[in-house]
Amino acid sequence: MSNILVVGGAGYIGSHTIRVLKDKGYFPVVYDNLSKGHKKAVRGFPFVKGDLGNKKKLKNIFKKYDIETVMHFAAFTEVGESVAKPSKYYENNVCKVISLLDAMVEGGVKYFVFSSSAAIFGEPEKERIDENHPQNPINPYGRTKLMVEQILKDYDEAYGLKSASLRYFNACGAHPDGKIGESHENETHLIPIIFQAALGKRESIKVFGCDYPTKDGTCIRDYVHVNDLADAHILAMEKMARENKSERYNLGSGNGYSVKEIIGTVKKITGLDFKIEYAPRRAGDPATLIADPAKAETELGWTRRYNLERIIETVSDWEKKRKY
Ligand SMILES: NC(=O)c1ccc[n+]([C@@H]2O[C@H](COP(=O)([O-])OP(=O)(O)OC[C@H]3O[C@@H](n4cnc5c(N)ncnc54)[C@H](O)[C@@H]3O)[C@@H](O)[C@H]2O)c1
Repeated sequence: MSNILVVGGAGYIGSHTIRVLKDKGYFPVVYDNLSKGHKKAVRGFPFVKGDLGNKKKLKNIFKKYDIETVMHFAAFTEVGESVAKPSKYYENNVCKVISLLDAMVEGGVKYFVFSSSAAIFGEPEKERIDENHPQNPINPYGRTKLMVEQILKDYDEAYGLKSASLRYFNACGAHPDGKIGESHENETHLIPIIFQAALGKRESIKVFGCDYPTKDGTCIRDYVHVNDLADAHILAMEKMARENKSERYNLGSGNGYSVKEIIGTVKKITGLDFKIEYAPRRAGDPATLIADPAKAETELGWTRRYNLERIIETVSDWEKKRKY
């Protein structure tokens, strides 16, 4: 079983993926500058504090741990901030990734798994978004992800670096042991924000837009559990190594839930009540964003272990025990 460097492994999705990797017999080494991540989330795992842009340090780690694959989670992730501060996003999410890829080429590391995003597609042109959907990102964050995917094609052609680009839809949920979960200082994701309202950490939950052309007027998104995403990482990595071929997959459940449905499910599972405020639509929020996961299902044999109720239960458990 090979050694894997998990860049950004102290963050939300990375910290879940290292546990699934370990459970499957891999040896994950975490590399993170802790700008957003949490040391507590990687307790018991080999950890190196460092920046994505530090090529020398990365090359030393590749050698020291005999790294075969890099899984890359380290990026800035707030769409609104990317509009206000594009330079910050292009620097961290693109320039520093080029530096990492160069370190890999120079250090002879062959495989790269990339956290891409549904944001590369922009406004959906059909109900379910498959891999052939046009790619027209509508904000700098989405453009950084698409740029890296394009750079990866060039690096494959020129240097033979193989990659799997995984476009997540809405990542959510927490580890079923309740010891790790989502914890962002400036939370922008719906489910943790609903829990903040439910637990009295914020006054209310604001629903942006209730006049969308959807079943109840609120936005519909595709929610996928972090551990299901972690499974897909491992399946994609194994296929890439077996076939020595680069690929791209859309990762979502294929089911859409409205904001009102998510709020209703949290209320039902926790038994908590909280204030809901209705606000106007936000610019750039499409009415519906749902993945077509057929390619990942057929080519990787990927299935999901967590439905919406189970996702909310894991978050509820984490919120009760939360240590960071
Ligand atoms: N959360 C989602 O719903 C979602 C959806 C689509 C794509 N993604 C992508 O998945 C990846 C992980 O997302 P997340 O929610 O876990 O984010 P996160 O902020 O929780 O984790 C990112 C980690 O990367 C680290 N990091 C950032 N810049 C770094 C740098 N220059 N050097 C070293 N470490 C650095 C941070 O400290 C943090 O621990 C990101 O690339 C994100 O764009 C997330």
